[in-house]
Amino acid sequence: MKKLFLLTVIMALWCCSDKTGEADNMKIFVDELMRKMTLEEKIGQLNLPTVGFDVTGPILSSDVEAKIKAGLVGGVFNTFTPTAVRKLQEIAVNETRLHIPLIFGYDVIHGHRTIFPIPLGISATWDTDLIEKVAVSVADEATADGLHWTFSPMVDIARDPRWGRVSEGAGEDPFLGSAIAKAMVKGYEQGDLSNPNTLMSCIKHFALYGAAEAGRDYNTVDMSKIRMYNEYLPPYKAAVDAGASSVMTSFNEVDGIPATGNKWLLNDLLRLQWGFEGFVVTDYTAIMEMENHGVGNSEQVTERSINAGVDMDMVSEYMLKYLPALVKSGKIPEKQIDSACRRILEAKYKLGLFSDPFRGLSEERADTHIMSDEKLDLCREAAEKSFVLLKNENQVLPLNKNQKIAFIGPLIKDQRNLIGNWSGAGDWKRAESIWSALVEKFGTAHFDYALGCNLIDDSCLMKKLNQNGGQLTIDPLSPQQLINQALQIARNADVIVAALGEPFGMSGEAASRSDISLPENQKTLLKALKNTGKPIVLLLMNGRPLCLQWENDNLDAILETWYPGTKAGEAIVNTIFGIANPSGKLSISFPRNVGQIPIYYNHKNTGRPMQEEQKYTSKYLDVSNDPLYPFGYGLSYSDFEYADLSLSDSILSENGRITASVTLTNKGAVEATETVQLYIRDLAGSITRPVKELKGFQQVSLQPGESKNVAFTIDTELLKFYNAALKYVCEPGDFHVFIGGNSATKAHVGFTLK
Ligand code: NOJ
Repeated sequence: MKKLFLLTVIMALWCCSDKTGEADNMKIFVDELMRKMTLEEKIGQLNLPTVGFDVTGPILSSDVEAKIKAGLVGGVFNTFTPTAVRKLQEIAVNETRLHIPLIFGYDVIHGHRTIFPIPLGISATWDTDLIEKVAVSVADEATADGLHWTFSPMVDIARDPRWGRVSEGAGEDPFLGSAIAKAMVKGYEQGDLSNPNTLMSCIKHFALYGAAEAGRDYNTVDMSKIRMYNEYLPPYKAAVDAGASSVMTSFNEVDGIPATGNKWLLNDLLRLQWGFEGFVVTDYTAIMEMENHGVGNSEQVTERSINAGVDMDMVSEYMLKYLPALVKSGKIPEKQIDSACRRILEAKYKLGLFSDPFRGLSEERADTHIMSDEKLDLCREAAEKSFVLLKNENQVLPLNKNQKIAFIGPLIKDQRNLIGNWSGAGDWKRAESIWSALVEKFGTAHFDYALGCNLIDDSCLMKKLNQNGGQLTIDPLSPQQLINQALQIARNADVIVAALGEPFGMSGEAASRSDISLPENQKTLLKALKNTGKPIVLLLMNGRPLCLQWENDNLDAILETWYPGTKAGEAIVNTIFGIANPSGKLSISFPRNVGQIPIYYNHKNTGRPMQEEQKYTSKYLDVSNDPLYPFGYGLSYSDFEYADLSLSDSILSENGRITASVTLTNKGAVEATETVQLYIRDLAGSITRPVKELKGFQQVSLQPGESKNVAFTIDTELLKFYNAALKYVCEPGDFHVFIGGNSATKAHVGFTLK
């Protein structure tokens, strides 16, 4: 132990400020350490068991403490708090032969203790500065609780809202998804993992996990390389370029080979083409699951994974079990193990764990940094900015505190659902309900409350959700009695606010749905409320786009709040009473019905684009092709006018640039923020091109009546795509430029690339 520290100090003294010097120091250090390691100890570094709280699969690891002592563990996950981390780290550094510290990982997905809006919600802010700030804050809090590594961001493009994990990502678009991926990695790692407030990020799930057939979790993915490169891979690449230090393999297959054993994916693409220098960890038991995929027995799948480029085995312990014999029999060269072990040790070195294995650990830091006022404030701001106003007929919103308002629904007083799924370390009891925020802000003189219905009535579904901590209950009153109570207060009110949605367990991992509407009993309540003739505001909480055709046709206002997190109550109350003005924009299309799925704005034109009057064109007989709410859509309490769309030139030369601009005016009576979106269509290419693609966005805040010129620079870089030979090129020809407040915007101007 002492020797190791001495060596580290010497290394630190040698350390030059430039990157090469740092890299050299790291190499010398790791070389020296690896020279002392046995094969078993090297393989031990590749082992990532789970110890502790929550899991998403079977717990296979046993005797973790004994394994740590024997040098057979590289890192652990699902353990945090200074006390718990210190306990295991002390074993690693004091009771093992080589004193190598452990890495502590956890699914810090949208906050650690302070829970921010779910990723799909925060992506609706389109505010990458805010997202980066949130990641910085999350990193500070998680590291104060002993963690080094988060399994985030999830950057999987998702176009199928049946898939429960759409809640964990940034939606359907590669451009927006890339910008958000980059912001999160930058925020977590801040370019310097030796700073104890930074958290190592992990890009997941590599790759294409969001394209599971039929939206069913863990299902097969099959996709052309053209689609992969142009539509699904960009966010992973953006995160690698932003410096992400680790990558998690996905459960699905890619081109017929499970990602965890896919050499093309992990080696040729990730390492050789993209230059990724960090380490690759599998998803939970993904090596073992390759047996079910049908690509070999336990030894064979282990061999496939290490040969493909996997460095760390999450939970299956197949590497620990099978690699020693595979190396001894000559099936796997030891240098393969060395490369993987080196990458793990390098990550530990970069985290500063060799100089301080107790990096950032102190009860005092935990006490002052966890759930600090500053973090809670950021949490409220992020929640407010994530809300998307889907409908607001006759400006029923914002409400006036002097109105008589009936607050109805199981989510008005709820706390557990507010923090959503993947909020493992979050304490839902600290989440602020809508009702308590109302009471705090205004008292309740004008407000009535009724439960109205249970969150769900379906006992079979409830049982499944409760098995995983759903905490769903059935009220002793019958559904009709609950509705009657609600009607009683509704009839006396000027306006009804109904808070409804999915229980949090209905989205997230292993939470695919084939019917993505509101639960039936909630719809029954809404229909009964509709009969009162009173204006109705629907506050939604859900982890995916829902089918809301009836709600859109029959209710006056709809505010999508996702799962807003710890400060849900205040953020919602501020928004519905106009203290905050909604500015969120959808990062994923909301379909009219499930039959339209997959539905996304950047589709191809086809040879027979939809024409209403023409039978033999690409459309449905029973529903339009358009989504109910398109990508990029979201209203405000103000109205924005877009005018004077123009280009600085109608010709773009190869190394030139032109400017597209528009005049944006706030026509409403309140200050508001608009996300101005730039879309481009490439009219003809060597391969077919989407009908439009997001290529830029800017957020503009305007006072009532104020106008601003909003300009975007267009250069050839922006027009590039992967052609049939998978070369990243732009091709001469004609382009259309659209600037508007959502992806359905039609007005355009054109230019030619010479
Ligand atoms: C399985 C999930 O797919 C992944 O996203 C998560 O990080 C791991 N379990 C660890 O909990």
